[in-house]
This record gives sequence, structure tokens and C-alpha cells, in this order.
Amino acid sequence: MSGVVIRGGEIITPLDRYHADVYCDEGVIKAIGPDLDVPKGAEVVDAGGQLVFPGGIDAHTHMELPFMGTVSADDFFTGTAAGVAGGTTSIIDFIIPSRGQSLLEARDFWMSNAEKACADYGFHMAVTWFNEQVEKEMRQVHHEDGISSFKTFMAYIGAIGVDDDELIGVIDTAGSLGALVTTHCEHGLAVQSLQRKLVAAGKTAPKYHPQSRPSWVEGEATNRAITLARCSGQPIYIVHLTCKESMDAVIRARQEGVMVFVETCPQYLLLDDSVYDKPDFEGAAYVMSPPIRPLGHQEVLWNALAAGLIHHVATDHCPFRQADQKVMGKDDFTKIPNGAAGIENRMALMYTYGVAKGRISIHQFVDVCCTQPAKIFGLYPRKGAIRVGADADIVVYDPARSSVISAKTHHHHVDRNIFEGFAIEGGVSHTIVGGKVAFKDGDLRVERGAGRYLRRT
Ligand code: URP
Ligand code: ZN
Ligand code: ZN
Repeated sequence: MSGVVIRGGEIITPLDRYHADVYCDEGVIKAIGPDLDVPKGAEVVDAGGQLVFPGGIDAHTHMELPFMGTVSADDFFTGTAAGVAGGTTSIIDFIIPSRGQSLLEARDFWMSNAEKACADYGFHMAVTWFNEQVEKEMRQVHHEDGISSFKTFMAYIGAIGVDDDELIGVIDTAGSLGALVTTHCEHGLAVQSLQRKLVAAGKTAPKYHPQSRPSWVEGEATNRAITLARCSGQPIYIVHLTCKESMDAVIRARQEGVMVFVETCPQYLLLDDSVYDKPDFEGAAYVMSPPIRPLGHQEVLWNALAAGLIHHVATDHCPFRQADQKVMGKDDFTKIPNGAAGIENRMALMYTYGVAKGRISIHQFVDVCCTQPAKIFGLYPRKGAIRVGADADIVVYDPARSSVISAKTHHHHVDRNIFEGFAIEGGVSHTIVGGKVAFKDGDLRVERGAGRYLRRT
């Protein structure tokens, strides 16, 4: 059998929609057009009445991340497989050295773990401390490994967080390389101080987690990160932005000509902080940083998305099992491993609650889920596009299907789903990864180790 032909679907791009067949062979798109003649024996995907998107890209995942005394529950195989089931065909994960650890040593560890991925993967390099050696190693991973984005955490002080002086060093070094700095924005010391006060007052339940990291703590740090990037004349990418205060800082900076890229995640668009009031420690499933915000912030984010002020909807996929991992913080919310799963649900949630609800157009959906992350992070047009020569990573989405999200049926390796019970309109019927049908009508046919490392420009 030679190749795969997707017959009769409607191709959707950020700018266009049209009916055409797509022929894939040798891992790439070979031809696009009406009624394509293809070699005998090509596998036929009947996409009649369905939508055809470029494979989704999730530029913010944490597979098998050692974090807060445990390791996130999806490894590179199970996590990328869950992604494929939901139409995500490439991820950009994070190499996160411990403070004081060589970037190269951490790189070798993450690269080796990721060999089991079943879809393509790249890495941002987190910089968790800074000196001349780190600067040299930033240059080295940029040149040797095609790592063109660096991550900093303004939170998690005392662990992987950096101070302002270190952040300036990272921004300057990345700028000299033409690389992009991405930042987790929360005022680390403010969070630490609020956490101490809450715990000292006996406020140790999961519902106090959001009180220790209010939106203004994020807004301050977002403004500061932008200010520091501005001092260096560099653009900056804000990861998992959640709130009005941060969006206000972004809008202000953009009005003044600063180039700020923004990412948010479905949980910040679709959930509100009432999730923390669930009984029986269930609120722990939603403990992530920044936390889920009070009602009001979600509308700000949807409006920003519609206005083109948010460039990427990623997941921050970082699952921890309730039964034996989240429970580590039973008596102290500051010890609950931060994070939740989402990679399988991202595309369907954004289609359902964005496109079908009329909040964003289908072109914006493709842009923020598939194309913009490829452009921002140096993968375009190999990824994020349906055009001849691009990688044959393609999603066929059937708008006539429906389903309900549940931990009982998801592919995430975790016992909770923060979107439990959410109704979904449409659904992925096929995911083509590297020219092969890797998901068909609920049947995952992924191959351990088939994913390739993505060098980026
Ligand atoms: O709670 C979260 N977000 N966990 C993953 C690490 C991070 O901050 O992105
Ligand atoms: Zn973060
Ligand atoms: Zn993250």
C-alpha cells in the first residue's frame, strides 16, 4: 500500500476554506486538488461532509516531568498518544534543569525520555538559574539542538524560579541568538508570602490555593516580564495567561509597540474558581498554577481571543493522579502537585465552545490551535499548514458527531478529567501522523517511538 488519500473533505486554513483531496506519501503532503489520481492501493480516508485541519500543535506540555516530589503521570508515549486521539500531532515540551544543573545534562535526560513519543516533539529549554556557564549552554543548545525558545518561571521561587536579574540575563542572551523567551508570570515571593500566611492560619485545603495566587499577583509579573523584555528590545511570549490584569498589561504594551505573544489554555476559558469548592479533596484535581480564576476573567480571555490578542491555545498538560499524587497535599495545599491533563480535549473543546458557540471563527480556531504555534516557534510551514511539501499531519473532524468528556473514556493516564461532563460537538474521526492513519473512529494505532525530534529555527 502506498500513501493515504483524504477524499472529499473541506480544508480549513487560517484564511481559507475549500473542498479538495489531499494525497500523502513518504510522510509528507504530495498533492492537493479535486478528484486526485493517486497510486493504486493508497489507503482512502472518506472525509465527505467533514472538515480537514492541519495537525494540532500543543506548544505547552509536561510529559513525565519530575515536579513537586513526583513525576507527571503521562510519559512521552501515553501523552502524545492521547494528543493524537484528540487531533494534536506535535508537541513542544520543556526541558527543565534543576537549579544549578547543567542545561546539557538535563537536555540528555529529556531527549532520552522523549524517544518513546508516537508523535513529533520539540523542546523549549527552561533556564532556572543564570551565570556565564548557563549563557554558554544556552548558545550551545540553540546551535546544536535547534532549541529556539527558552522558558523562565517567575513563580516557584527556591525551586525552578528565577529572579529579575537572572531573567534579564536570559532575555539578553536569547535576544542575541534571535531566540524567544517564554515566561510563567506570577510574583514568586508574593505567592510564597501568601502561602505561608494561609497555612499558618490553618487554611490548608485546596480551596486556599487560588487565594495564594490571586490574579493581581499574575498581572504584576506579566507587566514586569514585558518591562524587562522591553528594556532589551526583545519580544516576549507569556505562557498560560489567565486574567484581566495580565491582558490589560499586554494590551498596554502592544499599544506602545512592544511585541508580546500570548498563550492561554482551555481551562482558563471554560472553568471558574467554584471548582475549588468541591467536597472530599476533589478541588485538588484543579490545583494548577496560575489557578482557575473567578467568573469574569473568562469573558476577557474569549474577547481577547476573538480580537486576535491571544496567539496560541495550548494545554499546559501536566497530569497527576488524584489517588496517589494529588493526595500528597492532603494536609497542605502547597504540597499538592500542580497541574492537570488536557492534551486530548483541547481541539474539541475549542471547536465546541469557540467555533460552535460563535465566539471565534473556524479560521481563528485553526490559527490558534495549529498554525500560530508553528509560526511563533519556528516550525512553519513544515507544520501547521496543509500544503504540498508540509509534513502529512492532518486531522479529519466530523462536525456531526457528539460526545461527553470523561476520565472513564479519555486516553490521559490519570484518574480525573477537569472537563468531566463537558458536552462536545463534533469529533476527530481520523488523525494522520507522518502520513499514517494513527487514529480512526476511536481506534488508536500509534507506534511507540515513531515521533521525531523537531529542530526549530
Ligand atoms: O500547574 C502547572 N501549571 N503545572 C505545570 C508547571 C507550570 O507551571 O507550567
Ligand atoms: Zn507554568
Ligand atoms: Zn507549564
